[in-house]
Amino acid sequence: MADVPIEVVVAPVEGQQSFGGEPFPLVQECRSDGASLESVEEWVRQSRATLDRQALVNGTVVFRGFPISTDQELDRFIRAFDYPNFPYEESLSNAVRVNRTERVFTANEAPSDVTICLHHEMAQTPVYPSRLFFFCEQPAEQGGATPLCRSDILFERLKEDFPEFVADCETKGLLYTNIMPAENDPTSGMGRSWQSTFRAETRESAEERLQTLGYSWEWLADGCLRSTTPTLQAVMEIEPGRKTFFNQLIAAFHGWKDSRNDPTKAVTFGDGSVLNPETMDRVAAIAEELTFDVPWQKGDVALVDNRVVMHGRRTFTGARKVLASLVAMDA
Ligand code: FE2
Repeated sequence: MADVPIEVVVAPVEGQQSFGGEPFPLVQECRSDGASLESVEEWVRQSRATLDRQALVNGTVVFRGFPISTDQELDRFIRAFDYPNFPYEESLSNAVRVNRTERVFTANEAPSDVTICLHHEMAQTPVYPSRLFFFCEQPAEQGGATPLCRSDILFERLKEDFPEFVADCETKGLLYTNIMPAENDPTSGMGRSWQSTFRAETRESAEERLQTLGYSWEWLADGCLRSTTPTLQAVMEIEPGRKTFFNQLIAAFHGWKDSRNDPTKAVTFGDGSVLNPETMDRVAAIAEELTFDVPWQKGDVALVDNRVVMHGRRTFTGARKVLASLVAMDA
């Protein structure tokens, strides 16, 4: 039996922003009661070029009212986009995660009272995903929104307010330093062990990977590893004349804090010069002003263009579960 086409409309959402006449985020709402997952997959296959463009232009597309409630259904929805997968095992992410399917994993196992500051996913590493999917399996009782910030708009604001700082970001790039534990530490938002991060059983094989990636490093007495990235870009030109504040500065400066890590030592310019903490406070405050909080409803999916939009996590109470999936860089 052929599937009936579903009805999907662009809908408003409370607190929605608008930049250059384009809503942020863009919301695609399914209005067909009892739509089958097969008909949704078909709709995605037919619309994926448009949806991908919308993610780039608008920054984020939220899918609401679609018949998706399990990790398996989410996996099928995501596969219909036909993006190449970015597996967690291959990433250098600091977060501890648990896979549900080959493509879908829990967004971050960090405790509910830990705020995850705005960041571009893995912008502190040479290998980052181009796009992200988030899925609300279970909304929090209170809080737990995913803050999103248009990084191109932030960049324009910063260029006006802090031209010297922006020039330093563009010309010098950034170095990130962090200390990884010898075993996964689920109490930290950045508790992934060096073995898991570098897919290494021994120090020698970790060193091989570090060398290939251009990192410098030091082994600490307690078995932890302190590593510093090669110089990474702080600004990305995503389309001619459209630049984003593509880095991990806000999170590294304000959020890379746990029993091992001191945020004031986490990041410097590429020439080793230090960042001005007052400027960084203002940058974080402007980013917060520009933030839209995704008011998660059960079953919502968000497609975030990681090159355009930063994300984070608000603290929460209750059994919030947000799942994620990453798309490889070369998509
Ligand atoms: Fe993230």
